[in-house]
Amino acid sequence: MSSLHIVSDAPKFFGRRKGRVVRKAKSYLLDVMLPQLRVSRKADFNHDTMFGEPKKEICLEIGFGDGQHLYGQALKNPQNGYIGVEVFKNGVANLMTLISGVKEGVNLPENIDALAYPVNNIRVFDDDVRLLFHEIPDAFFDKIFLLFPDPWPKKRHTERRFVNPDNLKELARVLKKGGLFRVATDHPVYKRHVLRVMHACSDFIWTAKCGNDWKHEPEDWVRTKYQEKAIREGRRPVFFNYKRVR
Ligand SMILES: C[S@@+](CC[C@H](N)C(=O)[O-])C[C@H]1O[C@@H](n2cnc3c(N)ncnc32)[C@H](O)[C@@H]1O
Repeated sequence: MSSLHIVSDAPKFFGRRKGRVVRKAKSYLLDVMLPQLRVSRKADFNHDTMFGEPKKEICLEIGFGDGQHLYGQALKNPQNGYIGVEVFKNGVANLMTLISGVKEGVNLPENIDALAYPVNNIRVFDDDVRLLFHEIPDAFFDKIFLLFPDPWPKKRHTERRFVNPDNLKELARVLKKGGLFRVATDHPVYKRHVLRVMHACSDFIWTAKCGNDWKHEPEDWVRTKYQEKAIREGRRPVFFNYKRVR
């Protein structure tokens, strides 16, 4: 796997890149384990080799947060490969903990072999996904997950919302025809935003069969940290499934 590939025309990112101090074990995992799982270049995106063997499906999760959904999907579906993208360093470190089981306060292993853990079908890009788009071949993914994206509810921040025509163009390009694009949100402004922007995009159709579809967790769902918080605070998440049609 490659080292981080930086391109110069970086789009502006408005979220947080770092939070609390990353403690010793997580810092060690970021230094030693993350480079073994990192994908960042065109050459990494090879269906037959990037997971050591061809996989039934290859899925992308954008903004995986602390990694619960990504890890849960990978655990349940060893036949598939998962590429997780997250800018927030503490979240990436948390995913490394989930995969390795290495915790604070215990002796750190001398060596880490990231691919020797039971869940070895995850690869990671630890930066803005828009930097990765250039590297991904057409029709590469079977599924794309965008779960609880930052809502940017103020009108003057509308352009910061991830669901926008430019990003949808890239998502449609890297998703196979017939592939799934799933968006979840708990924010009323973002719900309306998704409905409006996706309706105007002819590359996708909404697959809801009845009016209540979007209120229920999809069958293959794994709850995320952000979703648990939303539920505790009384907000109701919705789940949009879109199919790429052309
Ligand atoms: C509200 S959080 C939700 C995290 C997680 N999906 C969950 O449900 O718990 C949104 C996440 O998306 C990440 N994010 C936002 N824009 C991104 C981008 N362009 N590329 C990669 N990650 C991004 C943020 O860093 C943040 O962790």
